[in-house]
Amino acid sequence: MILVTGGTGLVGSHLLYRLSLENDTIKAIHRKSSNLLAVKNVFRYFSEDYEQLFQKIDWVEADITDIISLEEAFKNVTEVYHSAALVSFNSKDYMDMDEINIEGTTNIVNLCIENKVKKLCFVSSVATIEKSVTSKIMSEADEWNTEKVSYGYALTKYGAEMEVWRASQEGVPIVIVNPGIILGAGFWHQGSGALFSKIEKGFSFYSEGVMGFVSVNDVVKAMILLMKSDIVNERYILVAENSSFKNIFFQIAQNLGKNPPSIKVTKLMSAIGWRLQILKSILTNNPPTLTKYAAKSIHDKRYYSSEKIQKTLNFNFETISETIKRVCILYKNEKS
Ligand SMILES: NC(=O)c1ccc[n+]([C@@H]2O[C@H](COP(=O)([O-])OP(=O)(O)OC[C@H]3O[C@@H](n4cnc5c(N)ncnc54)[C@H](OP(=O)(O)O)[C@@H]3O)[C@@H](O)[C@H]2O)c1
Repeated sequence: MILVTGGTGLVGSHLLYRLSLENDTIKAIHRKSSNLLAVKNVFRYFSEDYEQLFQKIDWVEADITDIISLEEAFKNVTEVYHSAALVSFNSKDYMDMDEINIEGTTNIVNLCIENKVKKLCFVSSVATIEKSVTSKIMSEADEWNTEKVSYGYALTKYGAEMEVWRASQEGVPIVIVNPGIILGAGFWHQGSGALFSKIEKGFSFYSEGVMGFVSVNDVVKAMILLMKSDIVNERYILVAENSSFKNIFFQIAQNLGKNPPSIKVTKLMSAIGWRLQILKSILTNNPPTLTKYAAKSIHDKRYYSSEKIQKTLNFNFETISETIKRVCILYKNEKS
């Protein structure tokens, strides 16, 4: 039996849909506060039989930071896809990220070892891959440098990866995927999904920074292929294209029939912006919409190579313009 964590998020919901096509039952954990209707909504994008496919999920209430609830979820489990995490660039969330991303993964790993799980797939991030000193393009072989990386999300995803490598040493075969920014349908007001709703509402800013992007369909396709393969104890970057934020934002605006963002954010503007946001967040007690890390990273130019997965699995990524086109159609259909 397969167990999925993070099934109520962007990656997990698309993964559950794919798995529901091939399996009679899949276990997935959710929290009391999780929105299961949002998952069903994702199923609805792809199939008229969405109700029937959704019924295949055996939902178990569990929190990855609560080992007792997880023990119940692990009963009869032979394969685990671990996608649950807290994704935040707000330094105030560091302790929560430490608990969910690292300690939560420790719990998952311990239960995989205890239950002699046949294979574990962990969704990490390109945040755990640091710029190479020798080449402009980063690959899986590039060493991570704690002196260079100081933001909480990357530190905790790296800590989680270390736990997953421990599982491999203790006899659990593992695979790790390291996606760039994931674009996909659903969850329009959180994470990368918010790019679509914000640009639709007339978001005016863009930057020339470069980052790796990938479609959620390709992420879950790669995860399932890796789990079905004989490949063990390897990690794979999942980036379809390295692109500027400007290019991505302009393409989304064009596909939504909106004017493209018109204000190029300079380094000075972001430096003032995040400080003003901190001040505003102190005064209003709301989280800042621009953090120090985000303000800096939108100007970084980061290039990643996905050659390893392309060569190993003969994997072809959907182009980002195709992804954006497809996701924008779903967005417009849902909003009309
Ligand atoms: N989105 C991206 O661009 C991106 C890029 C690279 C890597 N990743 C990685 O991909 C994975 C999935 O990301 P996503 O975009 O799908 O995130 P997401 O939409 O924010 O979903 C996060 C999921 O984790 C669950 N979760 C959080 N804390 C939990 C806890 N204590 N116990 C149990 N479940 C918990 C959430 O459950 P609730 O519904 O209850 O909140 C939700 O199902 C993460 O590991 C992330 O680090 C994401």
